[in-house]
Amino acid sequence: MFAALGPVPDGITLFLDDQPIIACPGDTVAVCMLRAGIPYNRLSPVSGAPRLPYCMIGHCFECLVEIDGIANQQACLTVVRDGMKIRRQLGAPLALKHPEV
Ligand code: FES
Repeated sequence: MFAALGPVPDGITLFLDDQPIIACPGDTVAVCMLRAGIPYNRLSPVSGAPRLPYCMIGHCFECLVEIDGIANQQACLTVVRDGMKIRRQLGAPLALKHPEV
């Protein structure tokens, strides 16, 4: 579906659902996941339908994933970092409890 135009230069390692994947420094999480052939990045909390990034510019919110333990992060706007831990969202994420409540 998607492929790099050349070899991945000095790739960094991310972990998607605990599986390592190689990314290019400067890429977004969405680009990295599409290049890796990940079939979906979340399941709709309403229908359970698999969803993939659509607009790649921060408008549609189809690319939401959990990044380093924080849910609902826009993968298309988040630049990869070495060791980043990404989880696909399967339905509605749990609401975060405010630390002072
Ligand atoms: S792909 Fe549309 S907001 Fe990320």
